[in-house]
Amino acid sequence: MIDTEHRLTTSVLVIGSGGSGLRAAIELAEQRVDVTVLGKRPRLDSHTSLAAGGINAPLGTMDPEDSWQQHAADTIKESYFLADPHTVETVTRGAEQGIRDLERYGMAFARESDGRISQRFFGAHTFRRTAFAGDYTGLEIQRSLVARAEQLEIPIMDGIYVTAILVDDNTVFGAYGFDLADGSRYLIHADAVILAAGGHTRIWRRTSSRRDENTGDAFRLAVDAGGRLRDAELVQFHPSGIIEPENAAGTLISEAARGEGGILRNALGERFMERYDPARMELSTRDRVALAAYTEIKEGRGTEKGGVWLDVSHLPRETIMNRLPRVYQTMLEHQLLDITQQPIEVAPTAHYSMGGVWTRSADHGTDVDGLYAIGEASSGLHGANRLGGNSLIELLVYGRIVGRAAAAFAAARSVHRRSVGATATARAEVDGLLAADGTENVRALQRALRTTMTEHAGVVRDENGLATGLAELDAIADRATRIGVHPDIAGFADLAHAFDLKASILAARATLESARERRETRGCHNRSDFPDLDPALQVNLVWSPTAGVTAEPIAPVPEEIAVLIKDVSSAGKLVE
Ligand code: FUM
Repeated sequence: MIDTEHRLTTSVLVIGSGGSGLRAAIELAEQRVDVTVLGKRPRLDSHTSLAAGGINAPLGTMDPEDSWQQHAADTIKESYFLADPHTVETVTRGAEQGIRDLERYGMAFARESDGRISQRFFGAHTFRRTAFAGDYTGLEIQRSLVARAEQLEIPIMDGIYVTAILVDDNTVFGAYGFDLADGSRYLIHADAVILAAGGHTRIWRRTSSRRDENTGDAFRLAVDAGGRLRDAELVQFHPSGIIEPENAAGTLISEAARGEGGILRNALGERFMERYDPARMELSTRDRVALAAYTEIKEGRGTEKGGVWLDVSHLPRETIMNRLPRVYQTMLEHQLLDITQQPIEVAPTAHYSMGGVWTRSADHGTDVDGLYAIGEASSGLHGANRLGGNSLIELLVYGRIVGRAAAAFAAARSVHRRSVGATATARAEVDGLLAADGTENVRALQRALRTTMTEHAGVVRDENGLATGLAELDAIADRATRIGVHPDIAGFADLAHAFDLKASILAARATLESARERRETRGCHNRSDFPDLDPALQVNLVWSPTAGVTAEPIAPVPEEIAVLIKDVSSAGKLVE
């Protein structure tokens, strides 16, 4: 059935050409380890390029009192004590080095007139520690990483969809996939694999991810290989996604807009954050601002289209042009709206998977020997509420660490593992889908799944809704056994959608089952039937298709960080 199957061999294979994958690959190449990177999207247009407002490090350029300990304390506090303290310490201690690495690769940070890197406020940070490049920070990071990777002559293959990670006796030996343009297959043998393929926020209707991003494919690849997921229920809804047009609903309006002084109002003109967090107002934590906007809309104080207003029109035009250029362009492009004159209509949007593949904090190794997960695909840093700007620094810090760990793992192999059976299974899975000619439409099922997740596992959840969501998901999974897959002369996107659907079903099940077990309200996870935080649930929830949901304890917070943590309460959250 296969026309062409390309065979490649590399020491370390990186799946995903966004920031985390490239940073790991750079580390490997700088250590002279043979590495190959595969990406679904063009390398300069990976999801990282959408990251907007900034990257955190306690550089102290604006507020010299800042320290890694305070950054760690803020991160743990805002995670509602679900972040792994060792992971947090690793990221915050390593953050300055991450910024210096980016400078070394030529990153154009915004700077003060004396040359210091500028740092701005992001929600819930004690100090100004978010470095940036306008509101195109992710794009600039991606450009810098691509430039360095190309300088190092790292092979980066764009347009390759990975369908399976190849495993024998719980040890990884490569991956299988196909070319999105011509459908030719790829069998890639490797001694270690780094999974850097993002999260699962595309399984909600309104999301800041594009159509083929964050469909849960990294979760499926890891779980099918023998890995588990942690905290799948902990999904960050960003307060400000655009509402229309429908095909761009959820596109992000950066938190930088509030960081620069933007104001939120409901349809009555009230600055509603006064009711929810009068001290921090618009710069409250993301979970609080998202829930506040949700509550205003739900209780009838939203706009006719179901949003609230985010207004930056009072800011100096120069501030908008220099520090919020992407927001300015986004609104012109999608709505012909001039934000220097008019407010933006926004609503919460699924933005970031704070959970992900279960990893060890020391090196982001998974349950499968030789398989590492990194970036939004992984878990451990963010707990129940991510600080804006922490994900970009995580990928810089852990990219370096994981690159080194994978290099050491690959170097220690004395044999190249192979399995004819595992390879045949991967091949047969693709053959099976290509032969599928059922009447169920993949895109319609993807839409049905997103509707289910939006209705039953959104900003506010409850037992009935989650149970209904699981029942609907079972029906979708059943229909998915009768799909038709029809690649055509334009390419193999339809085959990719079929694999994405499988991935989204798995990610949705992990999310719904874990959300049902978290019978409390904590950070982003609001249960209207359990409106209080339950100290007994200060655990991570780990999911696998065979074992279901199990609780995992969290290590204590080191004293030097704990003393800097101020009180955390759920007061002001107003879960109805
Ligand atoms: O709002 C933003 O610019 C998003 C930043 C982040 O998610 O880290």
